[in-house]
Amino acid sequence: MKILLLGKDGQLGWELQRSLSVLGELVALGRDAQSNPDQLRGDLSDLAGLAATVRRVKPDVIVNAAAHTAVDKAESEPELARTLNALAPGVLAAEAQKLGAWLVHFSTDYVFDGSGQQPWRELDATGPLSVYGQTKLEGERLVAVCAKHLIFRTSWVYAARGGNFAKTMLRLAGDRDTLTVIDDQFGAPTSAELLADVTAHAIKKAMVQTELAGLYHCVASGETTWHGYARYVLAQAQALGWSLKAGPEQVLPTPTASYPTPAQRPLNSRLDTTRLQNTFGLTLPSWQQGVARMLTEITGKT
Ligand SMILES: NC(=O)c1ccc[n+]([C@@H]2O[C@H](COP(=O)([O-])OP(=O)(O)OC[C@H]3O[C@@H](n4cnc5c(N)ncnc54)[C@H](OP(=O)(O)O)[C@@H]3O)[C@@H](O)[C@H]2O)c1
Repeated sequence: MKILLLGKDGQLGWELQRSLSVLGELVALGRDAQSNPDQLRGDLSDLAGLAATVRRVKPDVIVNAAAHTAVDKAESEPELARTLNALAPGVLAAEAQKLGAWLVHFSTDYVFDGSGQQPWRELDATGPLSVYGQTKLEGERLVAVCAKHLIFRTSWVYAARGGNFAKTMLRLAGDRDTLTVIDDQFGAPTSAELLADVTAHAIKKAMVQTELAGLYHCVASGETTWHGYARYVLAQAQALGWSLKAGPEQVLPTPTASYPTPAQRPLNSRLDTTRLQNTFGLTLPSWQQGVARMLTEITGKT
């Protein structure tokens, strides 16, 4: 099996390089052609270059981990966000369909309007509140043009590599006596590691059962708020021996309304993963398990 991975250096792309490597020959591309094998073009803003790359590589599976993920910035550059999050996946879908290949793509809880308190299911009505959410939703629709597609909607992604919310909290807690964190957005922090492992498992199964093509919600189990997440991170870090000025008790709650941002975020980002777990025979671990693992990794302790 030949797999073409786009966005190899992002949080998820990095983990996919690991998890996909056991499935077959992996051609992993970043945005910069100079550092890609055979100088293949992996820049999603170059739609013609992207199509040419797929035609040259002739993959059995395309995995797209690249996206415009700067949610606030997308509000002021909607055309670029649309090109990267919708038109480029659309090009991948058209090329994959011609080849008879699979297209694996990632989407977001931000396609929903965040109303209510129930976990969203795959077929629930969407209602994005931001340019990021709108463009990701359009991307989903264009990806579905390829018959053999897998779309995984996820939320609150983090990884040991690169910057993330947990690392920011640790840095701030090292400098400040108190932290103030939003406590009315609900969701599940999900590790790029978990997503990458689920993706590899699902590809393997879908390759022999094409009827598994479709849209799935993929997040860690359980739920929290950013406030609960921050408190958990600080408590775990203290247990691992971090010296912090602010402990979990010094993390104060605040509503979203007190922290205006260019892009509006959904309050209810809970995603129901029943379909994914039942279809692929998977058990999704708790969000705490992945966060604890990442903290142990960045602390360098076992
Ligand atoms: N992060 C989250 O909380 C979250 C939540 C829900 C869904 N998702 C979805 O999950 C997927 C993976 O996200 P992630 O967390 O891994 O994001 P990420 O760490 O921001 O990675 C995105 C990748 O896309 C690349 N990229 C940006 N513009 C590009 C372009 N023009 N051409 C080629 N590559 C380009 C980035 O490259 P550079 O480093 O060069 O910019 C980066 O490697 C995305 O589809 C995202 O929408 C993420």
